[in-house]
Order: sequence, then C-alpha cells, then structure tokens
Amino acid sequence: MEILKLRDIDKYYGDNQILKNVNTTVREGDVISIIGPSGSGKSTLLRCIIGLEKINRGLIEVNGKVIAGFDENGKKINIPKQVVKEGYMNMGMVFQDFNLFPHKTVLENVIEAPLIVKKMSKKGAVTLAKEQLDKVGLLDKINSYPSQLSGGQKQRVAIARALAMKPEIILFDEPTSALDPELVGEVLNVIKELALEKMTMLIVTHQMDFARKLSDRIIFMDKGSILEDAPPEEIFNNSSNTRIKEFVNSILV
Ligand SMILES: Nc1ncnc2c1ncn2[C@@H]1O[C@H](COP(=O)(O)OP(=O)(O)OP(=O)(O)O)[C@@H](O)[C@H]1O
Ligand SMILES: [Mg+2]
Repeated sequence: MEILKLRDIDKYYGDNQILKNVNTTVREGDVISIIGPSGSGKSTLLRCIIGLEKINRGLIEVNGKVIAGFDENGKKINIPKQVVKEGYMNMGMVFQDFNLFPHKTVLENVIEAPLIVKKMSKKGAVTLAKEQLDKVGLLDKINSYPSQLSGGQKQRVAIARALAMKPEIILFDEPTSALDPELVGEVLNVIKELALEKMTMLIVTHQMDFARKLSDRIIFMDKGSILEDAPPEEIFNNSSNTRIKEFVNSILV
C-alpha cells in the first residue's frame, strides 16, 4: 500500500526555489533515508510533508488521498477539512532538538496529542503512553521533566510521543545530530527496533553507516532536487552521478 506520495513538489522562499520537482512514493514498511549536503532542502521537504511549510506546486497524497496541492492550472485544490486532518494524523515527526514541552512531565508530553487531537480518555491515553514509553525504555522516567533527562532520553520521549498517535509513517529530521556521541546509539537502536517492526519511516540523517545498513532506499538530495532514489548499495557503490560519488567519497574517507 502507498502511504505517502509526493508529486512534482516545488517550494519557494521568496524568489529562492528550495524544492524542485520532487517526486517519490513511500510504501507500507519502507525505511527510507534522505541524505545530501547541507542546505539541499532535506528539512524543508519533511516540513512540507507534515504541513509546517506550504508547497507552491504539486501534490501530497497520504493513503491515496490528496491532503495538499495544486491542480494543473496552478490553482490550490480545496480539500475537505476532515481529509486534511486525517492525513496529518497519519504522520508523526521527530525533530533534531526534540521539541518537548519543558513545563510538562514525560507522561504529560506523551498523552497530550492523544488527549487533545484524538480526544482519547485520560485513562486510555495514559495506558497507551506507558506502552510507548516502555518500548523506548523510559517507563521509569514518566514523572521526570525534560530538563532532568539526557539528550538521548529526551529524544526517546519524542519518539514515544510520535508513536502514541499511532501514525502510519514517522518522519525523522536528524534525530541524533544534537546528541553527544555516546548517546547516539541508544536513539539509533530505538529506530532500528521500529524498522524491525516494519514501521514506515522517512529519516533525514548524516549517519551514513546506519542509513546504509537499515534503509530499503536512500534518497539523495542536492540543491532542492532528488538526484537519486535507490537502494543503499547503488548509492554507495554504483552511483554514476558525480555529485553523489563526491559526497559519498568525502564521507567515507
Ligand atoms: N524559513 C526559511 N526562510 C528562507 N529560507 C529558508 C528557510 N528555511 C530554509 N531555508 C533555505 O532553504 C534551503 C534548504 O534548507 P534546509 O534546512 O531544508 O536544508 P537541509 O538539507 O535540511 O540542510 P542541513 O543538512 O544543514 O540541515 C537553504 O538554502 C536554507 O537557507
Ligand atoms: Mg536540515
């Protein structure tokens, strides 16, 4: 099943074109890493998918339904509110800098969206939150505040918070790049577990070894375009694209 489909996406900031004709399809269970040089548009792409930024052309489809986009005349398509809401509820996002609510405990952070967005009962939300916190190994921290946690723990709470919404796809934007090196592994392990459970994921990362081992496909972005969308071995060993070869060699040196 196709969970996410991007068709001919363009994005501008003022006169600067940041995304150029981006096309890709994410199917159920796909683990896809997005790599590429700084400024190539990786974060912007995720932010457009999740609706934090608006696209200027193209279509975004979730589970076969258009949730944002433009028709062939460049006119914005009117989409029923409920369809848009459902589309976004199917997606979760984990940010580089965690984005936890500082004045809420770990448990409160995780139950917030199920309570407010899904209108779950408090009891149901707490049970669900505890399950997800157990999964990321943080059941003993439910009453702590974010300031009392390490970076790796904060990021695992952020992952539990995304999981609590039972999304069909999770977008990660450099989930380990704000972490001390010794804490990177605990977050990558959680993501690895999710991959084994066939969670559909789109992961922007600079962890090349991780991306290579874990991903079904790698999307290589440069200057707002997808240069290649292929299995890891093709990107890392066989790419005929000079820009990709340069990038890969500079990292592997
Ligand atoms: N809010 C904004 N307003 C104007 N330009 C922006 C904005 N956000 C990003 N950009 C520009 O868009 C381009 C792509 O940025 P983006 O953050 O998506 O790159 P990236 O691939 O995620 O880079 P990095 O690897 O450094 O995180 C950059 O040239 C950036 O300066
Ligand atoms: Mg970025």
